[in-house]
Amino acid sequence: MFSSRLPRSLEANPFTTLLAEKRAAGAMLIDLTLANPTQAGFAYPATPLAQPPGHGGCPSSPLAGQQIYRPTAQGALEAREAICRFYRTSRQQLIDPDNLFLTAGTSEAYSFLFKLLTNPGDEVLLPAPGYPLFDLLAELDLVTPCRYPLRRDGQGFWRLDFSHLRRQISRRTRAIVVVHPHNPTGSYLSEEEMRRLGQLCRDHQLALIIDEVFFDYPAAGGPANPVPAVAENTALTFVLNGFSKLLGLPQAKLSWIHLGGPPALRAGARERLEFIADSYLSVGTVQHQAAELLAGYRPAQEEIRQRLASNDAALAAATGLKALPREGGWYRIIQLPPGWDDESCCLELLKRHNLIVHPGFFYDFLDEAVLVVSLLCPEADFRRGLELLQEFLPAPLQ
Ligand SMILES: Cc1ncc(COP(=O)(O)O)c(C=O)c1O
Repeated sequence: MFSSRLPRSLEANPFTTLLAEKRAAGAMLIDLTLANPTQAGFAYPATPLAQPPGHGGCPSSPLAGQQIYRPTAQGALEAREAICRFYRTSRQQLIDPDNLFLTAGTSEAYSFLFKLLTNPGDEVLLPAPGYPLFDLLAELDLVTPCRYPLRRDGQGFWRLDFSHLRRQISRRTRAIVVVHPHNPTGSYLSEEEMRRLGQLCRDHQLALIIDEVFFDYPAAGGPANPVPAVAENTALTFVLNGFSKLLGLPQAKLSWIHLGGPPALRAGARERLEFIADSYLSVGTVQHQAAELLAGYRPAQEEIRQRLASNDAALAAATGLKALPREGGWYRIIQLPPGWDDESCCLELLKRHNLIVHPGFFYDFLDEAVLVVSLLCPEADFRRGLELLQEFLPAPLQ
């Protein structure tokens, strides 16, 4: 009766099951995985979007002035121009509104690209460790997700291993996905890695998908000036970003694909993306608020950055906890002592201490047992969570 593109079992895993039981029992949980900025106690921004219905945020209907529906496949030009202004002022990056496609969230952008680039059974290369959502999105579009490993360099940052990556390319590979900075490791791509990726994709006639949703959150230990992905002429390239992380407004459901590459390929991609986007026309009225929302990017990002830095400092000061270095993004990886199992550790922490942390295997950490925590949590919760971890874990790792 149902499609085989869905997971064979939709049953919850032991961790999610225990969490649901705890919640149903009304347990007071400390959530070190909280990554939803709307639940993290931020004050930004004073826009109608931030106000729940009935709280007086909207002077009139949010749809006022938008009664005549004139949809465009690429998204409203005024919104695309506002995004270009943002790139110019915040990064001195010049992009063309003609090369932007708006989508209802970055997940949808992936889905559009998989439809654009693949036939059923084709492969896309995804990083391991990596964010588990990408596998699901690929499979929902009948694409086979394949992994390429990231390797830690001498300083503990995660880098591309080009010889391994090259070996993963098969006759069915259609695209390579990179995340810049990566989720959850937080490592940015270097300019050199970006250049080599472009060449690799060009040589193998692959598309390059660069996810930049966390780009604006560099950490103190990261590169002084991370290099934004340039959708330039080497390979067909799609750079993804959106309000969910850029402005901490996931409820806006506004993201975009920035299209680049050799002109002929880009033209072919543009007309087909137009066809796909036109079939859904999923971006709603929020696009008409894009300029207004982007005007508030500085305070929103500043507030988020302060939270990340403050929780990062608390983690650095927490004796007994060894975190891997982070260049950017919203997450931190904590190493477990040798011989420890991440899943049983997370189950025990939840069962005994009502503490929610994610096991590394959720993110496909292949070689080591780690915990993944979000730096977005309210500070008091984060500190309490660290204390519980300190009590729970044995002697510090060297
Ligand atoms: C790296 C990365 N890309 C894309 C997404 C999806 O973002 P959106 O909320 O815009 O769909 C996420 C969600 O957390 C993410 O971590």
